[in-house]
Order: sequence, then C-alpha cells, then structure tokens
Amino acid sequence: MSDFLTLGIETSCDDTGVALLQGERRILAELLSSQIRDHARFGGVVPEFAARKHLENLLPLVEAALREGGVSGRDLNLIAVTCGPGLMGSLIVGVQAARALSQAWDVPVLGVNHLEGHLFAPMVDSEDLKPPFLSLIVSGGHTEIVRVDALGSYELLGQTRDDAAGEAYDKAARILGLPYPGGPEIDRLAQDGNPDAFAFPVPLQHTKHVEFSFSGLKTALLWQVRRLEALGTEGGRLPLADLCASFQSAVTRALIAKVALAVRMTGIRSVTASGGVAANSALRRALTEGIEARRWRAWLPRVSRCTDNAVMIAMAGKSGWDRGLRSPEDLSPNPSLEIGG
Ligand code: KG4
Ligand code: ZN
Repeated sequence: MSDFLTLGIETSCDDTGVALLQGERRILAELLSSQIRDHARFGGVVPEFAARKHLENLLPLVEAALREGGVSGRDLNLIAVTCGPGLMGSLIVGVQAARALSQAWDVPVLGVNHLEGHLFAPMVDSEDLKPPFLSLIVSGGHTEIVRVDALGSYELLGQTRDDAAGEAYDKAARILGLPYPGGPEIDRLAQDGNPDAFAFPVPLQHTKHVEFSFSGLKTALLWQVRRLEALGTEGGRLPLADLCASFQSAVTRALIAKVALAVRMTGIRSVTASGGVAANSALRRALTEGIEARRWRAWLPRVSRCTDNAVMIAMAGKSGWDRGLRSPEDLSPNPSLEIGG
C-alpha cells in the first residue's frame, strides 16, 4: 500500500463531502454533511442556500477528516476536488477552498469530473471490478450509460432526452404530496404496493438507441392521480403504495431495457450503476436478480455511496493523477462539464 494521501472534496450540489484516501483505496476518513433537511422545506435544492451551507460546513469537515486520519495538511500529496458538473455557486465553494488549501499546504490540486466520480463509486468496494464495463449513471441531474474501456477512456452511449430519473422521482413525489427528495420516499412506500396496479408507459422501451425519456411518465402519473381524485378515493386518500410501486416499476423497466440494449450492442457483460437512483431497491434487484440480469454481472456501490460523496472523487482524482492529469493553478468550475461526449 502506497502512502500517497489524497484529500477528496465534493460540493457539486447539496451534499458537502470530504474524504481522506491512502493509496488507491484505503479510506482513512469519510465525512458527509447532507443538507437534505434544510432543502426539504423548500421542496428542492435552493442554489444560493446550498452554497452558503457548503461554506459553513466544508472547512470543519476538512479539519475533522485530517484529525481522523491522524495527518496534517502538509502530509497530503493531492487535493482532488469536484469541478463540475453541478451548481455554479456550490462548485465555486469547493474549488476555491481547494485552491486556498493547496497554496497554504503546498499540495497540488486536481479538478475531478463529478460524473467520473460516480463511475468510480462501484470500484470503491469492489477491488475486482476492472474495465471494460458499462456504467449506468442515474442521479438527480443525469441519466446516461457510459462505456468504460479503460480508466480515463469513456464513451457516452446515450442519455436522457428530458428529465433525469432522479428528477422524475422527485417530481412524482411532489405530485403525490410526498417530501423532497422523492426517490427514497417512493422507494419506501412502494415496498407495500403492487407494481402492476397501474399500467404506466415505459418510455422508449423498444427503440434501438440508448436513450431515455421520463417527462411523459411524470405526466401519466399526474393524469392518473387526477382521475383517481375525480372518481373519489377510499377515505379521500390516494392508493399511494400502489402508485409508487407502479411508477417505480416503469422507471426501472425503462432503465433495464437500455442496459440490456447496451450489453447487446457492446458485448460488455460487466454492468455498474451509481448516482442516487442506484440506491433504489427495485433497480438494484432488477440489475442483480432480474430476468435480463442473467446476461451480465452487476457491480453496485453500497447504498450510502450511490449518492454524492467525496470518496469517489478522491479515488477518481488519484487515478487521474497517476494517469498524468494535471489542473492549472487557476482551476475554475465548469457547471456543464460532460463525460465521454
Ligand atoms: O447522485 P445524487 O445524490 O445527486 C445528484 O448528483 O443528482 O442523486 C440524488 C437523486 C434525487 O433525485 C433522489 O430522489 C434520488 O437520487 N434517489 C433515489 C433514491 N435515493 C435517492 N431515487 C430512487 N430511489 C432511491 N432509493
Ligand atoms: Zn451526483
């Protein structure tokens, strides 16, 4: 195990994450300060508020991570920081802090693509996972399948035409009167529901392209809810468990159909998933135990590392550094950074 120490910093959206990594994969500290409860009362992420919270949380987390790892800032070999995509105000806090610490401690800083971070999340726990593999990135902002031929060699096979899967969950939750973020809430309620109770359309299921679309599904849910309300429901309550289970089933089938297509197109039979929606229990089941899943081996990050975290950023940063990637001293965030496009 090398003694190379990487400090990872993640502030692209509403989670402030800091991690300390030794060598390629030994985690010395992993800290996360989630703002979910702060944003829940607004029904979604409020960008200015998120940036302010990062500002409050970040440096105390860095100090705590160093303390936990028993090292000082000057012992570090690299600071890896998310530089995009994400919310501009949130990214700026992370990148500026990384640059200031880099100067103070005389440690190089490397900007990391947040999506590349998600690609690394399944590798954190699975030492055996090596390219080539297909990566389904499903979060609040992205839904795409990336072909990973080697670390650093990424090809975007296809993505959503409109809403991301996580966004669809969040919008569906709002329609159903459930709190933000909607995914975990729908997942929980769906446990007691019948996935066949309502026949929601499975968008673009049979097209020959790796592509997704979730805005029509959200509208179908809205119409179903209106219909039920017009008919009058038992005790005036919607059949939430059945609605959630049926909606979740449609989203899952849409995702699995395109994973299956990507496996057929590429012949690559290792499949990974990451991003918040990869925490979804129906998707995890379908990827590992579903009928289609016999065609591939699925590698999933633990649930807590599906959502945004700094371990995946530290690991992607260390890998990039070893491959010779360097960032300019005046590194600045790029909110619309893409991957493999
Ligand atoms: O990766 P992430 O933490 O942040 C982004 O980069 O977007 O993903 C957050 C998204 C939210 O839309 C949330 O509703 C969704 O992931 N999510 C889930 C679950 N847990 C989080 N969606 C479905 N089922 C879940 N269990
Ligand atoms: Zn993310």
